[in-house]
Amino acid sequence: MSRLCHTLFCAVLLASPAAAQNLDSLLGRMTLAEKLGQLNLLSANGQASPQQLQLVRAGKLGGLFNVIGAENTTPVQRVAVTESRLKIPLLFGLDVIHGYRTIFPIPLGEASSFDPDAAEATARAAGQEAAAFGINWTYAPMVDIARDPRWGRIAEGSGEDPYLGSLLAAARVRGFQQTIFATAKHFAGYGAAEAGREYNETEISQRTMREIYLPPFKAAVDAGVASLMSAFNDIAGVPASGNAWLTDTVLRREWGFTGFVVSDWTSVAELINHGVAGSRAEAGRRGLMAGVDMDMQSSIYVDSLAALVRSNRIPLRVVDSAVMRILRAKKRLGLFRDPYRAHTAPPNAELRALARRVAGESIVLLKNERSPLPLDPNAGTIAVIGPLADNKEEPLGPWHTQGQASDVVTVLQGVKSKVVAGTQVVYAQGSGIEDSATAGFAEAVAAARQAKVAILVLGERGDMSGEAASRSSLGLPGVQEQLLEAVAATGTPVVLVLMNGRPLILEWAWDHVPAIVETWFLGVEAGNATADVLFGAVNPSGRLPVTFPRVLGQIPLYYNHRNTGRPPDPNNKYTSKYIDVPVTPRYPFGFGLSYTTFSYSNLKLSAARARVADTVTATVTVTNAGNREGTDVVQLYVRDEVASLSRPVRELKAFRRVALRPAESRTVELRIAVRDLWFYGLDMKRVVEPGTFRVFVGPSSAEGLEASFECIP
Ligand code: BGC
Repeated sequence: MSRLCHTLFCAVLLASPAAAQNLDSLLGRMTLAEKLGQLNLLSANGQASPQQLQLVRAGKLGGLFNVIGAENTTPVQRVAVTESRLKIPLLFGLDVIHGYRTIFPIPLGEASSFDPDAAEATARAAGQEAAAFGINWTYAPMVDIARDPRWGRIAEGSGEDPYLGSLLAAARVRGFQQTIFATAKHFAGYGAAEAGREYNETEISQRTMREIYLPPFKAAVDAGVASLMSAFNDIAGVPASGNAWLTDTVLRREWGFTGFVVSDWTSVAELINHGVAGSRAEAGRRGLMAGVDMDMQSSIYVDSLAALVRSNRIPLRVVDSAVMRILRAKKRLGLFRDPYRAHTAPPNAELRALARRVAGESIVLLKNERSPLPLDPNAGTIAVIGPLADNKEEPLGPWHTQGQASDVVTVLQGVKSKVVAGTQVVYAQGSGIEDSATAGFAEAVAAARQAKVAILVLGERGDMSGEAASRSSLGLPGVQEQLLEAVAATGTPVVLVLMNGRPLILEWAWDHVPAIVETWFLGVEAGNATADVLFGAVNPSGRLPVTFPRVLGQIPLYYNHRNTGRPPDPNNKYTSKYIDVPVTPRYPFGFGLSYTTFSYSNLKLSAARARVADTVTATVTVTNAGNREGTDVVQLYVRDEVASLSRPVRELKAFRRVALRPAESRTVELRIAVRDLWFYGLDMKRVVEPGTFRVFVGPSSAEGLEASFECIP
């Protein structure tokens, strides 16, 4: 544990009774207005406004967010700790999602690395950089499970799997919390928005909530996350920002969470729109009573709750508990000791090297038919085409905080830096991202005609995913598909480089383009990392953290579904499938190619029978059967064959990145702790039931060697 982490997080554990008493005595000195003030959080617009400074002075603000730069946070903090009556320091929040100034891959992209250490490293770096600019609290990681690619915020999370999502949630919390506080969001079920429509209602059974949507939050809590953010959505009619079952029963009583809960932006006031409160005061009462401690941007707690407390409609102890959670957090963060928390950012070269390495790991090779990739840097003329080929803005993705387009290396620049003298790189934009104009096609086609290979860089604008960016169709926007077809019609081999924040559905490309590389939005080093992969300096090792459907009508489509009573059978019409499209995805969860091939043999389990307290070790021989060094992601899935209720056909339970030299074989070990094979039984209690578990070990959720063991009572 680093010194900072130690300072930050052991402070609370080591806090002496005297220190605890200090907070008690501080609470004892607070007026009701000052207490409600601590529960109030407002957004600034780069700088605190004069009105906000006045609130700070009056003790009516617990934190501010979107104050940018230490030159702006420091003077506000000075007002808080010198001019307010009780001198309580402020939290300074910001959405540092995948980088502060140095932008790393979007979280969904980074999840493709199946590398929690990488996620921890980028979160740590982002936290350090943000801290150097006065931030002490981020609204990340977003740990919402998403099974619907129409939902734009799928870009901000780790995809569809609770196990991968949990490991990444914990890793990111650990990373951020080396220097700043993290927030696991959005609690909970936000990713289940019906029809993928942003902010929409959700219908989640308690079992699915506990087995699919909640585990990444639990992992964040277990990793010591300081705060959780309550979500916008309702769950079967109960809004998450006024949901005592979530924020009190599960979070505090079952999980023992001692941090604080902040609402999402005006989500307390929105309880009125949900139709569960008839006035602002009633909305505030509902939020606070449910356990939402801090009110982001509604100003309801501070403006409307005092009268309800005085009339005992809100017990004072509820206010006191919320205030104490905020004060304890400030103490844990060290703000009472050092309100300004001066930090220095890691050196730029180090940040960029990390960004390039992790971006390289995040790229998924979807197709490489007859191996057009990697490219030969000496190949003669290379055409680089498309609206995203030389675009500096979009690789930053939907939520890039202080990221600057000028910091971005484009794919065109990356390609140019790779080719050897004598190889010409010709560029044509071809079209805009969403344009309907095809006037640029002729230039693109001419560029392709004179080239040995055409790299097309196509996809979405950064802000076509992220918040409030649901899409009802998932093809390439504008005329990009036609541009692709026009270039392909030249006969010049095409390499399609995709930039997007969600799975796209590209029926024509999947079938007709020989080489397809999914790069998501990779951040400032996008162009270098992409070129590293295109020319083979980096052998792609990314794997899909989310299913790619064939057609829109298959959504929602995810690998860990149940079997049904009539599992699909091509020879039987009356089974669970479509009459017009295969039931399988285009690219399954866990899928990704490499420039080498890996073969699997000799799967063995350490025991044929095991008790709940035991660990079963699977060993498998993985061989690099090609002639390039490469990294495989060995994945282990489990299926509970017979249980008291229907269980998923597969669930990811372990994985490991394994680097292998050509012809090298390695025995890879993956452990299954039997106690992790729980589910919620008929009585809604967590149980591991005796019986047979089938184990699959392979390179994706759709393949693998099989073995099984018996769980015995
Ligand atoms: C988003 C949150 C974000 C908050 C503060 C909201 O609109 O849903 O994810 O943290 O704004 O910027």
